[in-house]
Amino acid sequence: MALSIDATNWQGSSLIESDMAMHVLGDTGNPQLSLGTMNVVEEEELLQEWDTLLNVQTQVLGGREAAWLESKGFGASRGVLEVGSASGRYGSFLARGFPHVDIFGLEANPHLARRFDRIADAPPNYRIHLGKIGEDPLPTTLEGRFDACILRFVLQHVSNPACVLRAVHDVLPPGGKIYVIEEDLTFLTTRQDWLPFRVVRDAWLKVTAASGTDGLIGAKLPALVQEAGFVIDDFDITLRNNVEMGAGFGDFMVSALRVFRRTMPDLVTDHEVRAAVAGFESSRADHTNRHVATYPQFLLTATKKASGISL
Ligand SMILES: C[S@@+](CC[C@H](N)C(=O)[O-])C[C@H]1O[C@@H](n2cnc3c(N)ncnc32)[C@H](O)[C@@H]1O
Repeated sequence: MALSIDATNWQGSSLIESDMAMHVLGDTGNPQLSLGTMNVVEEEELLQEWDTLLNVQTQVLGGREAAWLESKGFGASRGVLEVGSASGRYGSFLARGFPHVDIFGLEANPHLARRFDRIADAPPNYRIHLGKIGEDPLPTTLEGRFDACILRFVLQHVSNPACVLRAVHDVLPPGGKIYVIEEDLTFLTTRQDWLPFRVVRDAWLKVTAASGTDGLIGAKLPALVQEAGFVIDDFDITLRNNVEMGAGFGDFMVSALRVFRRTMPDLVTDHEVRAAVAGFESSRADHTNRHVATYPQFLLTATKKASGISL
């Protein structure tokens, strides 16, 4: 049976503007530092889907991010704390790209952290430690070992990003740097007629809203980081698109959709997944030369004030 989604009947909601989204996303009263979507990542199939997604994301996005990090002085750090390592795909990539920097991963979810052991060629300057920053004390073995911290795709997955940022501020030495990389679904756009991407976008919005995390965090980063006590050094917005991202763009979107489906099967149907996969597959050649979608990245660096200096 051919799978298709009819554009005229497509119910993909613009959840971003809906009451439900505003209620969940606007709820700043949540006292728990929960991990939102990633709180439930435990069963083997979901762990595998996450690992695939994080691997694809690293391959598709990592090169440009590393160039940006390099231009902002990342390579000059003596040690970097990577908060939210998951299975260590991105941390391993960074450690290979910056072989003179010790990268100390810190991951709250032990099931994800354990998958790191399966990365055969893990670089020697990268290890993952267990801990939830903002709730647990920093492992004592990490004290004094780093002067910078990176958070990539972490703040969008927690219910209280301000708490995480304050905790990062506390563990950094004065003058320490923070590097933050996030997305913002406001800028995840597509043509009306390009259905596979619309399915992914809609699933993304629904799952984010339902898990009580903020999919629109990118544009809010400067205010959040400043409130945690940092001085902003740079804030860059990069709008990428399906053509320059090449075939990896479809792989990225499909693997994100599989994660959403497995995370919230009540919100994302199997039919939607199969239709989107078939749609990406059949338009593989086409979507590498027609501009049909944008993908946003928000990149910020900031510094913890040296004590005693008033600005
Ligand atoms: C989407 S993954 C990103 C992994 C990696 N940074 C990357 O870019 O591939 C986010 C990870 O952050 C972890 N995390 C969220 N809050 C955390 C906290 N407070 N302390 C440590 N890890 C946290 C989650 O468990 C999850 O594994």
